[in-house]
Amino acid sequence: CTHTKDSEKKMQNLSEDAYLCSFLHTAKNLFEKAITSSCQNLTNPPISVTQSQIRGVDYQCNSAMQIIKKVRDEGLILSDGSKLSPKDIAESIVRHIPKNDVFSTVAVAPPGFINVTIDQNYICKKIRDLLVYGVHVKPEENRKRILVDYSSPNIAKEMHVGHLRSTIIGDCIANIFEFLGHDVLRVNHVGDWGTQFGMLLAHLTDKYPDFLTNPPPISNLQAFYKEAKVRFDNEEEFKKQAYSCVVRLQAKEPDMYTAWKQICEISRKEFQKVYDILGIKNLTEKGESYYHDLMVDVVNDLEKRNLIEDSEGRKIFNSSEGHLLMVKSDGGFTYDTSDLACVKYRIEVEKADKIIYVTDKGQQNHFMTLFECARKATYCPPNVELVHVGFGVVIGDDNKKFKTRSGDTVRLLDLLEEGMKRALAKLKEKGRDEVLTEDELNAAKAALAVGCIKYADISHDLTLDYKFSFDRMLDDRGNTAVYLLYSLTRIRSIIKKANVTTPVEQLAREVPALKLQHPREIRLAKYVLKFPEIILQVANELRPHTLCSYLFDLSVVFSEFYEQCYCIEKVVNKDGETTKVNFDRIMLCEATASVMSKALNILGIETLSKM
Ligand code: ARG
Repeated sequence: CTHTKDSEKKMQNLSEDAYLCSFLHTAKNLFEKAITSSCQNLTNPPISVTQSQIRGVDYQCNSAMQIIKKVRDEGLILSDGSKLSPKDIAESIVRHIPKNDVFSTVAVAPPGFINVTIDQNYICKKIRDLLVYGVHVKPEENRKRILVDYSSPNIAKEMHVGHLRSTIIGDCIANIFEFLGHDVLRVNHVGDWGTQFGMLLAHLTDKYPDFLTNPPPISNLQAFYKEAKVRFDNEEEFKKQAYSCVVRLQAKEPDMYTAWKQICEISRKEFQKVYDILGIKNLTEKGESYYHDLMVDVVNDLEKRNLIEDSEGRKIFNSSEGHLLMVKSDGGFTYDTSDLACVKYRIEVEKADKIIYVTDKGQQNHFMTLFECARKATYCPPNVELVHVGFGVVIGDDNKKFKTRSGDTVRLLDLLEEGMKRALAKLKEKGRDEVLTEDELNAAKAALAVGCIKYADISHDLTLDYKFSFDRMLDDRGNTAVYLLYSLTRIRSIIKKANVTTPVEQLAREVPALKLQHPREIRLAKYVLKFPEIILQVANELRPHTLCSYLFDLSVVFSEFYEQCYCIEKVVNKDGETTKVNFDRIMLCEATASVMSKALNILGIETLSKM
């Protein structure tokens, strides 16, 4: 089981040095201490520390201006008298900054900004630590159980590009929280209990009467679904039969239940093919049907507490955000019923502290209503967080909803297949088929195709609609997986060329810190160390494209470093030509590569040593 790996490592309690700290958070902590001790008579003084846009300044503290405002607004008098200016406050804060090895310069700028730069020696030491201990961030103090509900296709229906987005984005979000040391549950809430089963079951029992002894040879469930739908729309008798099948299924009548399981199994195998290609692991299926018995309890409970209203034979649960349809007039349960029972289960049984649902934003209303109802029914206590991450729709080159030429839903397996073909063409265009063995080429093809599809999706702001284009995602310029994977390979080959016989990790172990001085070295080192800050930001905002922008910028900053800073120098003297290796720079290359590959892993992208 690999999904606990990161969190387990965290449990081993590595020494403080082993963790990468976000500069921003470290700076915030220092300022918080300084401000609380310098403004003792203020309750909750504002702590505001941000990254600085000023050249030569890393972070700035803006609290002094806010403190003055608070003092005036609240009519408070500072102990030093009321004639203080932001500058006075800033200076007092500066005097109270605890002794530390993080800040090198601390300067007050009008009207009361405090500008700080991060100390170069500290940077050089942290890069050394990163090489020695690997890329870890300090686990968040408040370890939570976080449940991420993603992918969640519907049985017997085609898994479509919306589910692909949910799978890719959800998996990335789960990886991020796991990396931060949380206990993450990945749940696939498949649609396996809806009314679509009525017609499927009616058609199945009709067409394959011996289904109990001979599992039906349905290879194309999609076609089977269509057949059933045609009958449902045209045959009155069939329609009645279909309705009764749903009722019999929901009563868990053995024959119906067996037929239902057979259908689910066929779908499951198809879904698994997609997950295998995408490298999705540890995603546990707990579909709508799982909560059936709980739905009965929940409806009873709500009725007992008078939270359910009757509306033309339907039972509804009203809230300020809208209503949930709990029981239909025919007595059946709905998507709403299963989701409410499911929230209750996730909190009470699975002990989730935070539940994140990843679906298209078309379901936003559903989730807002669900969350409100879950609170109203007290199934969700105030300390449990419910979050909906709603993403935009996938559109094609024609700016319309992504469909095949004939207007059908695109089959994900076909799409992935085409990605592989295009990736192979790209590799051939680069002449890689001449360098790589057949196995290597195949591995590269798959990694590239999947990497590109995932990266293209995540690198866009998820709230916006997203245009699916193989041409764009396989472009080797710009913010694409191809560009990044090649940059990473290039950095690795620089390291290899240096022919350093001692492993870089050991080289780092032998020194207390790297020796970096050139402005571009420092700039790159700082950028590498910005990684934890970005991860925390993504976890906080649930906008993974920030991580992609960071990766892209990192590789640009690397190129700018490499342009001016020779890692391997040719030295020509009277004895001929020799090469001189700058070990500190090689170590910096290695640190860059480790952070890049860690970031790519978190995005769910496989990196290959050869591609
Ligand atoms: N099966 C649903 C769909 O395809 C998504 C389910 C999302 N999760 C949930 N708990 N409602 O749209």
